[in-house]
Amino acid sequence: MNKKTMIVTSGLPYANGPIHLGHLVEYLQTDFWVRFHKMQERECFYICADDTHGTPIMIKARKLGITPEELIEKSYEEHEKDFADFEVNFDHYSSTHSEANKAVVDDIFQKMQEQGHVEVRTIEQLYCEHEQMFLPDRFVKGSCPKCQAADQYGDSCDVCGATYSPMEMKDPRNADSGKPLTRRESEHVFFKLSNFQSFLREWVPEHTASEVSNKLQEWLKDDLRDWDISRDEPYFGFEIPGMPKKYFYVWVDAPVGYISTTQEWCKKENRDWDALWKKGEADVYHFIGKDIVYFHTLFWPAMLKAGGYTLPQQVFVHGFLNVNGAKMSKSKGTFISARTYLNHLDATYLRYYYACKLNSSVEDIDLNLEDFTQKVNADLIGKITNLGSRGAQMLGKKCEGKMTSPDLDGAKLIQMAQEKGEVIAQHFQERNFSKGMTEIRQLAEEGNRYFDAKAPWTSIKTNPEEAQKVLTTTINYFRIMAIYLKPILPSYVAKVEALLAEEPYLWKDAQKVLENYTIGKFEHLAKRVESKSVEAIVEESTV
Ligand code: MSP
Ligand code: ZN
Repeated sequence: MNKKTMIVTSGLPYANGPIHLGHLVEYLQTDFWVRFHKMQERECFYICADDTHGTPIMIKARKLGITPEELIEKSYEEHEKDFADFEVNFDHYSSTHSEANKAVVDDIFQKMQEQGHVEVRTIEQLYCEHEQMFLPDRFVKGSCPKCQAADQYGDSCDVCGATYSPMEMKDPRNADSGKPLTRRESEHVFFKLSNFQSFLREWVPEHTASEVSNKLQEWLKDDLRDWDISRDEPYFGFEIPGMPKKYFYVWVDAPVGYISTTQEWCKKENRDWDALWKKGEADVYHFIGKDIVYFHTLFWPAMLKAGGYTLPQQVFVHGFLNVNGAKMSKSKGTFISARTYLNHLDATYLRYYYACKLNSSVEDIDLNLEDFTQKVNADLIGKITNLGSRGAQMLGKKCEGKMTSPDLDGAKLIQMAQEKGEVIAQHFQERNFSKGMTEIRQLAEEGNRYFDAKAPWTSIKTNPEEAQKVLTTTINYFRIMAIYLKPILPSYVAKVEALLAEEPYLWKDAQKVLENYTIGKFEHLAKRVESKSVEAIVEESTV
């Protein structure tokens, strides 16, 4: 394994809405992966920020009667709190609305210009005379140019599935106000992506999974179209140097947020960001959802290449979240915000459940709420937690918390669990969290079989010394499982560290066995999920 510094990112959430359980599929898996590497003593840091620019944010602020700056500040506070309460541990969380970000955007743009990758052309677009602005496709409605179905969005038709430009619509209107739109010409700045075609054809397969790169190759075999990177005022974003009233399209400055956020972190930590992002001293890993693949595997590498920055080592793409087998829905109460979930349940459960579901493919994952309750209760509580709490409570009550050494069978069992560390690490490393969790669950089953067969609650009366050895085994065994679970369940495992009065666990600590050791006072680890809490979440989410 190479030992370079790792910069790990998740897609930057838009600042115009709350974090929801769909987002968390991404932030949690990235957090698992980063925490795992930290436990392996890799230098690895997790960078993210709010994505603050663009028309939707400007329009939302207008509707609320506040400035975009006020809106993004409020979102920032909410997002930070949601992430903290879900135990998503960023090394630095910033915002794309910063001077630092503007400086890097300008730098990349200047390099693009110098190398002849930029062109200005006049294009025609739909204009709302009433709002005095050009409207993005999603803010336009009209009848579908293919099947004539009325009331379709400006980019695609819900009835026949056609995709098109809103300019093809006969009766385009402002989707919000219904006011008819006119056509207007203006100058736009284009990034000549076609200049990067052969570079991308090579780069993509080496830096994405084959299922992603195969899809992209279909696209890359045709000529790449140049990318429109400017927007006219009014726009909430960064003005383009030397082009008054023209702004960078939000997707230009959003990924640059990965760099500027690292810069801020480096300032705080007194480190050289240049070395990380320009001199190749770090490997950059992006976690993203399948909806933003083009931005991260075509536009973004081309921008970095033009600007002379480090290209990502890998772009990891995951699928979307379904709830109860269907897309999240406000009317079904399955569009669940992070905050609504937290109002009723602890983050630990969702972290556990997602880990059991996640793998490295682009497949969607399903949060079935009944299965969620059932799995958490049966496995996390029934198998894992109960083993630890039975062992620790009995040792506390009957043996003054004093461990001796494991019995013979116990020593073998502990060794088996220690040997599993490598397989589990391999699965986590490869982002096959579900496979790692299956191994841990099997360990728990094995441990319970041992505990039940040895029945220390009986032997404590007839052969207390033997019982004490069994309890010593049990606690050691539970401790090893806890170490493996730590990237997934950090606050839960912190309670185990406290019980055993140990330093924060590293992965290698699983290889140690505690003997003749006194444990602390047992504190409750986790309780069952009540169906009524899940029902309350759905009710609170139903609109
Ligand atoms: N702001 C852009 C990303 C800019 S990255 C330079 C964006 N924001 S988002 O808020 O819509 O999504 C943030 C991340 O969460 C994206 O990677 C997206 O794919 C992921 N998800 C958003 N909704 C999701 C689900 N329902 N399910 C799984 N992942 C989801 O895109
Ligand atoms: Zn249609």
